[in-house]
Amino acid sequence: MNAVPATTSERIAIRSMRGEDLPQVLEIDRQSFSMPWPASAYEYELHENPASMLWVAEALEPQASPCVVGMIVVWFIVDEAHIATIAVHPNRRGGGIAKQLLATAMEKIISRDFSIATLEVRASNMAAQNLYRLFGYQIVGQRPRYYRDNQEDALIMTIQGLDHAYLDWLEKRAWEISSGEKNDPR
Ligand SMILES: CC(C)(COP(=O)(O)OP(=O)(O)OC[C@H]1O[C@@H](n2cnc3c(N)ncnc32)[C@H](O)[C@@H]1OP(=O)(O)O)[C@@H](O)C(=O)NCCC(=O)NCCS
Repeated sequence: MNAVPATTSERIAIRSMRGEDLPQVLEIDRQSFSMPWPASAYEYELHENPASMLWVAEALEPQASPCVVGMIVVWFIVDEAHIATIAVHPNRRGGGIAKQLLATAMEKIISRDFSIATLEVRASNMAAQNLYRLFGYQIVGQRPRYYRDNQEDALIMTIQGLDHAYLDWLEKRAWEISSGEKNDPR
């Protein structure tokens, strides 16, 4: 996929991932990660893993076909939600699409009564760490040499005590998230 930059008439919709999204999702994955997931991994998450939920961000524009511009995958494991992956097409970054994807995931995590969410992020990935901090995630640990391609450490980021108050904050302060204010949600 060759996602073009956003235009003013465009709208972003977040919806569940479907099988037909996979070519665009795989292309975003390939352009976003040094160790992209193989197609089989997405197929497993989409069609076979009952603990997995997947969403895409779709750019909708009058007169143009909808275009997948980002995705997020969340695993629901015992009592913890795990952000397995999130990515936005390189041409479309910096426009709040990841915030919309993560907000959708956080709403679902809380509506499923999960109070803890966690993830791993490369120590050098400041863009992603800033995104997670914006939603209240904090660094709680480190996995040394976690990433096989360059032996980079993973930081473990977690948010605990997720509840309807957090959801209220997310809903009431959505304008702040989308306009970039950085107040602590807790
Ligand atoms: C991380 C990623 C998903 C962010 O997507 P995005 O749509 O550009 O993010 P948004 O525009 O919603 O920005 C959300 C916040 O993230 C942070 N952020 C995003 N890009 C950033 C950058 N280049 N530098 C620093 N912080 C950044 C900011 O806090 C930003 O909020 P602000 O705009 O109010 O300052 C995107 O850069 C990406 O796909 N990266 C490659 C894949 C990846 O690293 N995924 C995370 C794996 S753990």
